[in-house]
Amino acid sequence: MADKMWAGRFSKELDERVNDFNSSVSFDARMYKQDISGSIAHAKMLGDTGIIDRSESEKIVEGLTGILNDIDSGKLLIDPNAEDIHMFVEQVLTERLGDTGKRLHTARSRNDQVALDIRMYLRDEIMEIITMTRELTETLCTIAEDNLNTVMPGYTHLQRAQPITFAHHLMAYANMLVRDIGRLVDTYKRMNVMPLGSGALASTTYPIDRRQVSAMLGFDDITQNSLDGVSDRDFCIELCSALSILMMHLSRFSEEIVMWCSWEFKFIELDDAYSTGSSIMPQKKNPDITELIRGKTGRVYGDLNTLLVMMKGLPLAYNKDMQEDKEAIFDALDTVKLCIKTFIPMLATMKVNRENMRAAAARGFINATDCADYLVKKGLPFRDAYKITGTLVAMCIERGTTLEELPLEDYRKLCDTFAEDVYEAIKLENCVNSRKVPGGPAPEAVRSQIDFIRHTID
Ligand code: ARG
Repeated sequence: MADKMWAGRFSKELDERVNDFNSSVSFDARMYKQDISGSIAHAKMLGDTGIIDRSESEKIVEGLTGILNDIDSGKLLIDPNAEDIHMFVEQVLTERLGDTGKRLHTARSRNDQVALDIRMYLRDEIMEIITMTRELTETLCTIAEDNLNTVMPGYTHLQRAQPITFAHHLMAYANMLVRDIGRLVDTYKRMNVMPLGSGALASTTYPIDRRQVSAMLGFDDITQNSLDGVSDRDFCIELCSALSILMMHLSRFSEEIVMWCSWEFKFIELDDAYSTGSSIMPQKKNPDITELIRGKTGRVYGDLNTLLVMMKGLPLAYNKDMQEDKEAIFDALDTVKLCIKTFIPMLATMKVNRENMRAAAARGFINATDCADYLVKKGLPFRDAYKITGTLVAMCIERGTTLEELPLEDYRKLCDTFAEDVYEAIKLENCVNSRKVPGGPAPEAVRSQIDFIRHTID
């Protein structure tokens, strides 16, 4: 094993088991690009401020660029025995440049370095997830546009409640996703402050230019307190919490898709390319993707919990516990991306069984509220209208019929306000079309929702 960079104080080599235990390179290697760009900015600043010679700063920048290219091209493999990605890059730089390489870490600690790298890495990931979530939202808008008039039952307590359209139902999820994007944007803003210069915990005595580094690396500002700069992981927790909420939305949607695919509902059918069979039951076509999304939601919640518990008892400033942040937040990011990536084409290819939705809407008295409202519009107090309609529903259940099919004389036996036009008032399409207040399921109201959402995510 090569000598550790910190070997000076020690009289023995690190136990191999401890080395493995301590090492984070197996999971932080994925931040190599951010680590190197951060170091390039730091080295330039060291040269510009005269903390190191400009010629040495230039050599370091060249050396780091070479390392970046070599890792990118596969020419340089990241050593699995390295302590972490930061040590690895510095070690290769020193091997390549000799004493000049050793000057890179002037006025810097791995504590502020890792705080920088992870912010830069997560920034990029947030942008990617926002783009994917936008695409998912756009997919929903497209399917909704095709189903503005697809009547289906809306549910409360999973009991058929009132008529809506499939478009309206889908746009509910689109609204959730827009909020998810908003949360990701907010997280990005709070995350985008530059911690380098915090040093190990108490900043540095060198006349560094933090603002220069911040500007070079595209940050909005610099962190205001060195202790906080190195020991803040709020942004990981905030991101994981935004991801957990996003997964909660995908999971609720997935649960509905699982139901809608069942023989009991048959509202939709998934494309063969996005469903799976059973090893024993030849007739089966299972919505595995959605079940996995539902399952993986628990995993992302677990990651959030890992981060919260990891941080809750830590004294200031950096503690090694914090190395555990990466596996949790990376796992959450990977999981979310995998889920959205699979979910989009699955939705885009699913078949909507409009007749089955319409047939389900026709059963279950979901126009009962409209029947009561009909009487209210003719002057009855709502509570009386409600009671009369309830009695009518009970009558229909007893006779095995529906409000649409019940003869007018039966209506009039209970209340002589009823006239022939009640049948128009309780027709499902009319029930939907007259709910045209903003936010309602009427086709024109959903049309505005779609336009608004598209404008918002643009
Ligand atoms: N691998 C470490 C981490 O991810 C880097 C910082 C280590 N700092 C230290 N003083 N040991 O947290």
